[in-house]
Amino acid sequence: MTNPLFTPFAIKQLKLANRIVMAPMTRSFSPGGVPGPDVAAYYRRRAEGGVGLIITEGTYPAHRAAGFDSRVPRLYGDEALAGWREVVKQVHDAGGKIFTQLWHVGMVYGEQYGDPAEGIRPVGPSGLKKPGEPGGEPMSQEDIDLAIDGYGIAAVNAKQLGFDGIEIHGAHGYLIDQFFWEGTNQRTDRYGGDLVSRTRFAVEVIQEVRRRIGSDFPLGLRFSQWKLQDFDAKLARTPGELEAFLRPLSDAGVDLFHCSTRRFWEPEFEGSDLNLAGWTKKLIGKPTITVGSVTLNEDFVKSFASNETASITGIDQLLERLERGQFDLVAVGRSLIVNPSWPMQVRSGGVNELLPFTRTALAQLV
Ligand SMILES: Cc1cc2nc3c(=O)[nH]c(=O)nc-3n(C[C@H](O)[C@H](O)[C@H](O)COP(=O)(O)O)c2cc1C
Repeated sequence: MTNPLFTPFAIKQLKLANRIVMAPMTRSFSPGGVPGPDVAAYYRRRAEGGVGLIITEGTYPAHRAAGFDSRVPRLYGDEALAGWREVVKQVHDAGGKIFTQLWHVGMVYGEQYGDPAEGIRPVGPSGLKKPGEPGGEPMSQEDIDLAIDGYGIAAVNAKQLGFDGIEIHGAHGYLIDQFFWEGTNQRTDRYGGDLVSRTRFAVEVIQEVRRRIGSDFPLGLRFSQWKLQDFDAKLARTPGELEAFLRPLSDAGVDLFHCSTRRFWEPEFEGSDLNLAGWTKKLIGKPTITVGSVTLNEDFVKSFASNETASITGIDQLLERLERGQFDLVAVGRSLIVNPSWPMQVRSGGVNELLPFTRTALAQLV
């Protein structure tokens, strides 16, 4: 049997050699927001290892309050763009494809994420860091317009640099997800209200990005039920709610949905073994990426919370679901940090020889 991971896939005109995606992972190795040669070499190594599509770590769009970690790369400014140009070149020279991920943190700041510089005001739909915890003012219409413009500027930069596509980070409780989630969106204007109304900010971001990059350039959206503020949070409790939530986002111009879960094997709703990516594909009919503990036995939140090692597991269940067409692409996170040639190793039947993941691996960029 052909291994379904190693069959080609196309998103619009973009041809991918296989179904393996490098999950976006913040590494904070870009001092001053500028990715250097070490970042380019890091991504090149994964392309050489056989990854079909790399999605970069989150990069800040052109908005002054997009994020507060000075070592997270930006997608604006001459120096940062020159750094990214080299990243793209290295990946392409190695035969890989690469999307950038646009990441606005919104109200997530403080320890681990950095604090806003003097005079910079963090922004969020209702000024809440999490439910019941104020941390700023609700966004004005002008704040919203400026943030949307910042995504648009960064998207144009991405296209000009030669990236193969863009992923908008709408997951995990950051700005876009702060609009999606009732826990952080208490607005009574057109950006708040029921789940569909709470997609409006994202819809406007997607429409603006789409307007600027044109209809042929691949555009993905990452979303999740869980939030870093609440791992048990749910946006959609039924397939009907999920469809109502995704439809306006799809119509706004998303080509590819990256359905972020921590354990890919978990059914999203009762009565079916489909996971979030499976349901999204079934309901919306557009390509999906699954993710979450591929070849590892512990999810990444657990990896962060302790120094425990996440051990290697098999891959059969994943392949069986891919074979059945439940999703189209498979993102691999931690396992690719410690195994840059994960695709080649898996292809040659060496799953059991993959290295396990421990948090200490994040101390270096290799
Ligand atoms: C070090 C690290 C950094 C991450 N940074 C991001 C990020 O910038 N954007 C994002 O959408 N997800 C981020 N994630 C989540 C991963 O993309 C992925 O969904 C998660 O690690 C689960 O995949 P895994 O179990 O294969 O590691 C990060 C995860 C890790 C481990």
